[in-house]
Amino acid sequence: MAISFHEVDHDYSGLRKKDDVKALFDINLNIESKDEFIAVVGKTGSGKSTLVSHMNALILPTKGNIKIFDYVITPKKRKNPKLKEIRKRIGFVFQFPEYQLFEETVLKDIMFAPKNFGFSEEEAKTRALEACKLLGIDKDLLEKSPFALSGGQMRKVAIAGILAYNPDILLLDEPTRGLDPKTAIEVMKIFAKINKEYHKTIVMITHDMNLVYEYATRVIAMKDGKIFFDGKSIDLFKDDTYKKCNLVKPDILDLVDYLNTSLNLDLDYNVKNEEELLVRLKGVSL
Ligand SMILES: Nc1ncnc2c1ncn2[C@@H]1O[C@H](COP(=O)(O)OP(=O)(O)OP(=O)(O)O)[C@@H](O)[C@H]1O
Ligand SMILES: [Mg+2]
Repeated sequence: MAISFHEVDHDYSGLRKKDDVKALFDINLNIESKDEFIAVVGKTGSGKSTLVSHMNALILPTKGNIKIFDYVITPKKRKNPKLKEIRKRIGFVFQFPEYQLFEETVLKDIMFAPKNFGFSEEEAKTRALEACKLLGIDKDLLEKSPFALSGGQMRKVAIAGILAYNPDILLLDEPTRGLDPKTAIEVMKIFAKINKEYHKTIVMITHDMNLVYEYATRVIAMKDGKIFFDGKSIDLFKDDTYKKCNLVKPDILDLVDYLNTSLNLDLDYNVKNEEELLVRLKGVSL
């Protein structure tokens, strides 16, 4: 097990005690070190970013503890291990990561984190170039200022900076938010590849149920700071559970419902996208 939460609460302290915000309650959760593709969903303010921020000890629990690889993270700051090793093994792509670009050139920006984690200049460069290849970042862009790029290109550069140090687990906070649909699909395909071919665990916060249904093998639905559902996405949408977390059905399931009602069919929810649905329909006599 790579990450285990044990009875974790998180309160954000306000200026006065009565302004404290209870953001997480009694979280128990296990995440494997490889092969998982987890979507974290729930309405705004339900605790998604707070939950995921604990997974690389960006914030500390106020109660309980979190085991991350061999380290135990507790509420007491002084007792906690040096965090660099955790951060190296668990990469976090923040919401709008392009806001954190700062180097003179794209290449220097992508090399920054691997160098910071102890790779030599040469090794950092090799890794940065590999990450660019994976993300389809054009070589012509490498010597440009990151601020001269489009929003989608900047997002890819920011993601390349994380992939370049090859973390075991990737935490993603709404990685496709604000991207045009084509770039969003490209970026999701890269995460799917990293998960399937390199066996990395991915934990992705998203409000997009279409992405959840197509890519995630496990869904954690948050409600009012608690885990309301943890399981396969098909089980989240097959009854009213998703409504209780203020979620909507993925388009593909709306389409299945529509076909079932209008054509009197009995298609199940075991279809991830239109292509799979078409294959199913070919086997049905209309
Ligand atoms: N730094 C902070 N200080 C005080 N309260 C905070 C802080 N960050 C989050 N909160 C509060 O904690 C609760 C959970 O917030 P969190 O950011 O984890 O929600 P979220 O599910 O990620 O929401 P969103 O979908 O809007 O990103 C909310 O009530 C929020 O107002
Ligand atoms: Mg959030």
